[in-house]
Amino acid sequence: MYSWIDGLEAAPPNADSRQLRMALSAFMTGVCLVTTVGEDGKREGMTINSFSSVSLQPPLVLWSIRDDARSADAFLGSGRFAIHVLAEEHQELALHFARPAPDKFEKYVSEFEAGLHGCPRLRGALATFECSTYSRHKEGDHTILIGRVERFSSCAAAPLVAHAGRLGPVDEIADALRKARETAS
Ligand SMILES: Cc1cc2nc3c(=O)[nH]c(=O)nc-3n(C[C@H](O)[C@H](O)[C@H](O)COP(=O)(O)O)c2cc1C
Repeated sequence: MYSWIDGLEAAPPNADSRQLRMALSAFMTGVCLVTTVGEDGKREGMTINSFSSVSLQPPLVLWSIRDDARSADAFLGSGRFAIHVLAEEHQELALHFARPAPDKFEKYVSEFEAGLHGCPRLRGALATFECSTYSRHKEGDHTILIGRVERFSSCAAAPLVAHAGRLGPVDEIADALRKARETAS
């Protein structure tokens, strides 16, 4: 398990964005990898946890991207993306894709194949949603990307989860919470 925040602090209503981020991280989520490919063939990928389902008819999903992310122009301009729900064995990959780098894929050549519209598709994801961009909504310092699911697949395996700045398997996150509670009492 990887931890990047030590714990949640009490914060006033006018809390700064770091405190707000910590409070928001109390909401446990799955962890996803989103990928795209530009017109020039350049592949981009980033770790996200803002994924959510939106609609079944038509099939829509969403995620949001920070506007000053290195790869924002690629994701906002390409018109396509693939979202992969990560399994617990993808922890190292999730951390790798959460750091800026010119070519994040070269370290994981054998893990990816070309998917729909050429977007990199990760082998072994719990679920994959291959999307065309349906709409974009700029809100604050992020843009919400809504994707129309054109193809999807799923399989049964244990998920990677994020909670309170920790990233890891569900049982490791639960253990860490139990230990923190015991230490506090
Ligand atoms: C668990 C986790 C969830 C994240 N969720 C998002 C997200 O939903 N949207 C976003 O823009 N960045 C998110 N990030 C941060 C990006 O992964 C990070 O900024 C990455 O460097 C972006 O890729 P780029 O630098 O190649 O543009 C998340 C990071 C982690 C560790």
